[in-house]
Amino acid sequence: MKVLVLAGDGVGPEVTAQAVRALEWFAAHRGLELSLAERDFGMTNWLKHRTMMPDETWGQIEAADAILFGATGSLDQAGIIPPEERRKGSLLRMRKALDVFANMRPVRMPSALAEASPYKSRVTDGVDLIFVRELTAGMYFGTPRGVETLPDGSRRGINTHSYTEAEIARAVRFAFALARTRRNHVTSVDKANVMEAGALWREIATGIHQSEFPDVGFEHMLADNCAIQLARHPKRFDVLVTDNLFGDLLSDAAGAIIGSLGMLPSASLSAPDGQGRRRALYEPIHGSAPDIAGKGIANPLGAILSVAMMLRWSAERPADAAHLEAAVDRALAKGARTADIAGPGESTLSTRAMGDAVIAEL
Ligand code: IPM
Ligand code: MG
Repeated sequence: MKVLVLAGDGVGPEVTAQAVRALEWFAAHRGLELSLAERDFGMTNWLKHRTMMPDETWGQIEAADAILFGATGSLDQAGIIPPEERRKGSLLRMRKALDVFANMRPVRMPSALAEASPYKSRVTDGVDLIFVRELTAGMYFGTPRGVETLPDGSRRGINTHSYTEAEIARAVRFAFALARTRRNHVTSVDKANVMEAGALWREIATGIHQSEFPDVGFEHMLADNCAIQLARHPKRFDVLVTDNLFGDLLSDAAGAIIGSLGMLPSASLSAPDGQGRRRALYEPIHGSAPDIAGKGIANPLGAILSVAMMLRWSAERPADAAHLEAAVDRALAKGARTADIAGPGESTLSTRAMGDAVIAEL
């Protein structure tokens, strides 16, 4: 497996270093054939080379079986980097270029973390859900977009929520197929009551359910209702499929169930090509967290669990993926805590020491 590591900005390099250690463990002990390359990306690269991403890195992104991404974004970015350069190092541009439309965001409650959650344990016990967020269309890519000046001199900002039938269908199909490998239930989330594109989403999802996946339990849910159901009764969900914008918002909301976004991994996949190979981008869902960057205290588990997803989806080694997830669970059960998931009075580990705890369990 050819892996390109783009650790990026902020806490990205710190958490990614621990994820790479976990990946290398499987090369050293489980016969995973691994070729690793690392490149600077984003602000880090700008400071060194005055570009967010050199063009040659695109070549490497294209050639990789899997990309392990850290984090992007920096407080200074908007001020000092020209817009043209910012676009080069844009995560959204990379997602679009790789066409990784299926963004999986699992939210699983480790029983050891009941205290870290802001919710009662009777609500969080046993939560095991996964979002399929459509990642390459919708509000974040639709045109027209921009800020225009109106005749009266005031400005208007415009973004467009747009989905073709094909864009909806491939995300929904992915979710149904995934549900068959889990508890066989899909919740499709939209705002069909007010948005035409949402009504189309609902119509396409219904059609695919009836014609291709009648064996899978299925419901529609409005996005605002979904937000409250995620807080009140998250155990009712298995697979949720939704558009780019709602998926962004609701997956963060679901992260609150665990208590820290630092715990959450993600995998983004394209459709398989002629050889059955999918392009794949793995990243923790947290951002660059500039306030704690460089302090060595960020939680690396979202990045490490993203490696587990890489083992499952790109290396096709489900047993290794489960082994890594179990190691994380055991480390947590034995009390390993970074600051973001520590309860009152619990001692905390550095980013690296959390990596050590997982490697020890492996
Ligand atoms: C995410 C992030 C990104 C997004 C940002 C960093 C562009 O919030 O992956 O959820 O909005 O998709
Ligand atoms: Mg987000």
